[in-house]
Amino acid sequence: MKMISRCEKDTFALAADVAKTLRAGDVILLHGELGAGKTTFTKGLAKALGIEETVTSPTFNYVKEYQGGRLPLFHFDMYRVSDADEVYELGLEEYFYRGGVVVVEWNKFDGIERPIEVSIRSLGGDVREIEIDDKRIDG
Ligand SMILES: Nc1ncnc2c1ncn2[C@@H]1O[C@H](COP(=O)(O)OP(=O)(O)OP(=O)(O)O)[C@@H](O)[C@H]1O
Ligand SMILES: [Mg+2]
Repeated sequence: MKMISRCEKDTFALAADVAKTLRAGDVILLHGELGAGKTTFTKGLAKALGIEETVTSPTFNYVKEYQGGRLPLFHFDMYRVSDADEVYELGLEEYFYRGGVVVVEWNKFDGIERPIEVSIRSLGGDVREIEIDDKRIDG
């Protein structure tokens, strides 16, 4: 499913649509270049889940945890993760069983089953093409 977002608010609205469908254990992989809007999409997810805390990029500590919403949100940023060993050390798999939603920017882990893949591409200015490929359904 491909959509056009013309501003941050549009991206929040798309994230809110995805958030409605989320259940414990779901994993969202966010794809797109630096500044595409991956963290922005995550902010939209958090807001729609009823999380009040402000989502900020976890670049320097890889993962941030947000409680207080309909589901907990675990936000990973693997931009600075170099290899599979380091991913293993992050303990990503443990988060799949913690009753929340795992959101990953710059994923470097290839053992994720049935993720929701969100690809964000800048079309210039504030315009983004956002493609959602829900592998929970399509396999
Ligand atoms: N339509 C839009 N959707 C999302 N973000 C937008 C849009 N238009 C403008 N922006 C702006 O683009 C920027 C996206 O930054 P963001 O941190 O979300 O990117 P990112 O993909 O997480 O980058 P990084 O790979 O560095 O983590 C924000 O400043 C946001 O306000
Ligand atoms: Mg980011």
